[in-house]
Parts: sequence; C-alpha cells; structure tokens
Amino acid sequence: MPKLNIVILAAGLGKRMNSALPKVLHPLAGKPLLAHVLDTARALSPQRICVVYGHGGEAVPQAMDDATLIWAQQMPQLGTGHALMQALPHLDRHGTTLVLYGDVPLTHAETLKKLIAAAGEKTLGMLTVELPDPSGYGRVVRNSETGKITAIVEEKDASQSQREIREINTGIMVIPNEYLHDWLHKLENNNAQKEYYLTDVVEMAVRDDVKVEATQPDHAWETVGVNSKAQLAALERIYQNEFATKLLERGVTLADPCRIDIRGQLDCGRDVEIDINCIFEGHVHLGDGVKVGAHSILRNVKVAAGSAIAPFSLIDAAEIGENCRIGPYARIRPGTRLADEVHIGNFVEVKNSTIATGSKANHLSYIGDSVVGKNVNIGAGTITCNYDGANKYQTIIEDNVFVGSDTQLVAPVTVAQGATIGAGSTITKDTPPETLTLSRAKQISIDGWKRPVKKAKAEK
Ligand code: UD1
Ligand code: MG
Repeated sequence: MPKLNIVILAAGLGKRMNSALPKVLHPLAGKPLLAHVLDTARALSPQRICVVYGHGGEAVPQAMDDATLIWAQQMPQLGTGHALMQALPHLDRHGTTLVLYGDVPLTHAETLKKLIAAAGEKTLGMLTVELPDPSGYGRVVRNSETGKITAIVEEKDASQSQREIREINTGIMVIPNEYLHDWLHKLENNNAQKEYYLTDVVEMAVRDDVKVEATQPDHAWETVGVNSKAQLAALERIYQNEFATKLLERGVTLADPCRIDIRGQLDCGRDVEIDINCIFEGHVHLGDGVKVGAHSILRNVKVAAGSAIAPFSLIDAAEIGENCRIGPYARIRPGTRLADEVHIGNFVEVKNSTIATGSKANHLSYIGDSVVGKNVNIGAGTITCNYDGANKYQTIIEDNVFVGSDTQLVAPVTVAQGATIGAGSTITKDTPPETLTLSRAKQISIDGWKRPVKKAKAEK
C-alpha cells in the first residue's frame, strides 16, 4: 500500500450548534467528535495526521493533547479546498492523502480501508452514498453513457436536474499526492459561495485522465456529519445502539438495549447482566456473572466475577473483588479497593479506602481514608471523621472488629483486632484488641419532667 497521509478538516464554525464550545469538541459517547475521527485515523496507521483548525482557536489542539499530530491553522475559512491547502506543506510528494471531516465521527475504519484500497497512487477515491433526501449535499455527476463520475456539483451551484441526483459526496476522499499539489493550486472560487471547493479536484482528475472510483460505506450514517444538537443526539443513539448490539452478540444480557449508555470502553466476561439505564464511563471491566442493577453509574471500575451491584449505585475509580454485594444507593469513590465478599449497603459512602474480605457496612455510613480488615462489621450510621477542617487522617479498623451503630471514629485512630465498639460511641483514642470500648454518657431518666407546651397566641 502507498504511504498514507491523513488530513482532518476541522476549521468550520458550527453555528447551528448554538454553543460556545467549538463544534468538533462536542462530545459523542463522552468523547469529542474530533477524538472519534482521530481514533479512526490512527487505526489506519498513516504516515502522519494533520488537523486543519480555525474556529475555536487553540482550544481544539489543546483538547486533543497529542504531540504526534500536525496542526495547520486556517484563518479565515475560505472553503474545503482552501482548508486542505493549509495542510499541503506537511504532505508527502508521493503516496495518497485521505481527507476526513472532524465533525463526521462514526466512519468505520474498515470502510476507509476499502476506500483506500480502491484508490491508490493513480486513482482518486471518493466515498459516496445514495440518500432518499440528498438536499444540502454535493451531488455526484456521472456520464449518462459510461456511468463514470465526471464532477461534484454543490447544491447551490446545481441545475434543477442535477439536484435530483440522489448519489451524494460524503466529502471523504483519497487523493493521489502526485496530483494534489498541482490541483489545489489551480482551485478557483468562482462559484455560488465564493469558496475554494475541494470537490473541484474531481473535474480536474477527469481532465488529467486520472481514474475516479466511488466506494460506498455499509451504512449511510457512517458519513453523516454533525451540524446541530439534534444531529448530535441522533448519532449518539446510533453509536449506543451499535455498542449494545455488540454486547448482545458477545452474550451480555441487556434488559433493554435502548437504555444503556457507554461512554468509553466496557469489557464484559460471560453471563453479565445489565439492567436498564446504566451508564458506563472511562474503562469499565465486568467479570463473569456480574450483575449491574438499574440506574447505576460505573466510571473506571473493575468488578470481579460474581459481584452484584444493586440499583442506583455510583462507583468511580474503584476496584471491586469477587462476590461482593454493593448497593442499592451505594456511593463508592476514587481510590477504593474492596476485596472479595464485601458488602456495601444503602447510603454508604466509601472513599479512598481498602476493605478486606468478608467485611460489611450495610447501612448509612461514611468510610473515608480507611484501612478495614477482614470480617469487620460496621454498624449503621458509623462515620469515620477523617477531616479536621484542614487535614485528612487515616482510620484503621483491624480484622474481626465489630463497630456498633452510630459510632464516630475520629481519625487518626486505630481499632485493634477483635475489638467491639459500643453503639453511639465517639472514639478519639486507639482501642485495645478483643475488648469492648464505649464512650457513652450514662443513661438517666428524669422523673416529673414535662414536655414544653405551645404558648397561646396573643389576641389581636
Ligand atoms: C461539503 C462538500 C459537499 C459534501 C458535504 C458533505 C465541498 C465544497 N462540499 O459541503 O460536496 O456533500 O461536505 O457533508 O467540499 N471546513 C474547514 N474549512 C473551511 C470549510 C470547511 O475546515 O473553510 C471543514 C468543516 O469544519 C467540516 C468540513 O470541512 O468539517 C465540511 O465543511 P462544510 O461547510 O460542512 O461543507 P459543506 O458545504 O457541507
Ligand atoms: Mg456540512
């Protein structure tokens, strides 16, 4: 295969997004549109990738943060041909250049491979599709006898009969570098929009006896661009539907494939079950037999085999061992590592803590900056007071400890192994092992005490 250069056009304004954020930075499945295009581009192992940027300014290169990319600024934006001209100094003299759009996020790498294979160093390759409603797009004009492509005509420049053509230019094309330099220099802007149209290279190719080959994608949506929030939402659904279908094919049970959102990578073992309205972000790994209850959100999480997440749980940057029971309504925050068979129940928040095998905190607790041993039982309402208003401190709870309900453990503090803490205690000093410790005022009852009564309102 000839050397491949890729140019991504991303300088356009995106006025219809009605947003301060540059269009190509709007997220689809949690990732900027342009990042999707870059991932696809990288999958083709090109010699180099050049991105033409303009509107949105430096925010665009900064958001991509990739030192291997070449950035070419286009100011002002005078059309797609003018955009490609800005990349020209970075392109090889031989080989081919694939032109992609920064706002067309869902093109399959396989489709582009097909397009590149059909083109080559001596052929201009175009990705075209037939649309029931071609309005707004450049039309592919073919010779009525030979069927060969002769030109692309933009809608604004098209005659009435040309407007009836349903084969459209997706904008994605592969151009032999040998001709590219010459053709771009010859572009003119004497058209309805006073722009330098990249599409004019098609006519030049025909004139120079360079073959023009059209390739079609498997799905028209692979070539659809985002110009509005409505189009962005539509592509988001297509993306999610594709991902859900892949999960089903791999044997994952989805209660409803229309009600799952994956914004990153989701790897699943065998017999994983996911209930409705769950969101997966970053890199999530679910081991064999894991069940995720409805309305749960998992972000950068590893859940080992056999664990069950009950509904409405939020788990962020954590590792969950095997056969754990989490939730409902659990919040597990970054830096948490749960060993096997740990139970974290409703309204329990765990942050930056490790909890060893078989330990349980089933109700209404905060466990922060803690090291919890094996087979510990943390009673309802237990709070680790890890913050004195200025600094954070650690709580250590050793193996086989039983913490009674409504206990405050004021860090730094260690509850030694086998200790029992009486309910309602405030523990400020380390406690001895295998001993009952409690810090409660003695219970008293006051004879003859009367509840206050409401005062009668003064007459007006
Ligand atoms: C272009 C094609 C049209 C095709 C359509 C597909 C031309 C002349 N027309 O039209 O045949 O059917 O795409 O969507 O090529 N851009 C720049 N700098 C510019 C202008 C555009 O970087 O000066 C970028 C945009 O950010 C966008 C892409 O190029 O990513 C396409 O621009 P857009 O304005 O959408 O082109 P269309 O007029 O829709
Ligand atoms: Mg467009």
